[in-house]
Amino acid sequence: MSHLSSYSCQSIDQDDIDAVVAVLNSEFLTQGPATAAFERAVANATNSPFACAVSSATAGLHLALVGLGLLEGDSVWTTPNTFVATVNAALYCGASVRLIDIDSETLNINLDCLERALQEADRDGQLPKIVIPVHFGGNPVNMEKLSRLSDKYGFKVLEDASHALGSRSQHETIGQCEFSDAAVFSFHPVKPLTSGEGGVITCKSQNLHALISRLRSHGVSRENLNAQHGLPEELSYEQTDLGWNYRLSDINAALGTSQLGKLKTRVEERVRLREIYKNELQPYAVKLQRIDTDCCSSNHLLVAQFENQSMRNEVHNSLRASNIATNFHYIPIYRHPYHKNIGKITDFPIMESYFSTGLTLPLHIKLTINEVKQVCTKIKEVISQ
Ligand SMILES: Cc1ncc(COP(=O)(O)O)c(C=O)c1O
Repeated sequence: MSHLSSYSCQSIDQDDIDAVVAVLNSEFLTQGPATAAFERAVANATNSPFACAVSSATAGLHLALVGLGLLEGDSVWTTPNTFVATVNAALYCGASVRLIDIDSETLNINLDCLERALQEADRDGQLPKIVIPVHFGGNPVNMEKLSRLSDKYGFKVLEDASHALGSRSQHETIGQCEFSDAAVFSFHPVKPLTSGEGGVITCKSQNLHALISRLRSHGVSRENLNAQHGLPEELSYEQTDLGWNYRLSDINAALGTSQLGKLKTRVEERVRLREIYKNELQPYAVKLQRIDTDCCSSNHLLVAQFENQSMRNEVHNSLRASNIATNFHYIPIYRHPYHKNIGKITDFPIMESYFSTGLTLPLHIKLTINEVKQVCTKIKEVISQ
């Protein structure tokens, strides 16, 4: 059976199924010991002191922004090359969003454009409260450079690391938060590892972790109560903040922990498959996302750029005719009807160029080397016509 009919998909082994069944046979279904174990496993995998599991990365971005103090009227800056959830999380808080063009090679937020925009905003008193870099496809943003800008201009940094579990920059494991206030990972099934649905926030601050953990469960706490209300202590709880139900279930968490045990081998496998794409396609002037040699990307997405739009569309049509799935990541945020007021097409020449020539090719660990070569052969046929 061909594995090329999806650009990405989950990979579930018997031990993943056993881990979920064990929870189904246990006392806890929703947030309980399996969630705590999942948090410890993510903290270990990312070298971060604190991890908080939530129902999705979208929920995690929202909670992290609230926890970092984002208020109505504040401003959040991010990249147009992301899923709408990044921007929506800021809008949930009543903040405004500004988009910064991307880098043509890394496809991440362009830090030179960001610096110029910050200089201008500083003059006009319009600096952002929070910047959200997105490690697109798992390719690490230069966080050290971003953190120098954050020190200079006084904004906080929330990493949208939805794609980047298992990625490493020159200086840290993504999620370690050496150069940011918090990071958020997604465990949606198209991501390299899954918990069915789910997200995890990592951070360095114990206070932020405590606040986020409380907010994910209605802002209610059973610890450090202000009053006893005449009830025995073990029956008491208090709401101290306005929170949400963003809990992860133990069923999802057990799957996530089981999958996390395979993180290293899965990233290695993806790196290997990417190398095949690279060796096969680079002589044909197909451009792949640049990943710096001293970095490691989780390779969540394999994005190729072609000479022009018609070549890209021809490649897509030819692959489709052979039942080979492709996709495009991402339709620029400002092109969505709901977000059209966030930016004008003409303000994003690099994003537009990528939007017209890019294509996401299949990359997941069920693919064989021969299947990847089959995709490349089709592409080369189109290019050589
Ligand atoms: C960059 C990015 N941010 C946020 C999300 C939201 O993740 P979730 O589906 O876990 O809410 C996604 C999901 O595709 C994403 O790709």
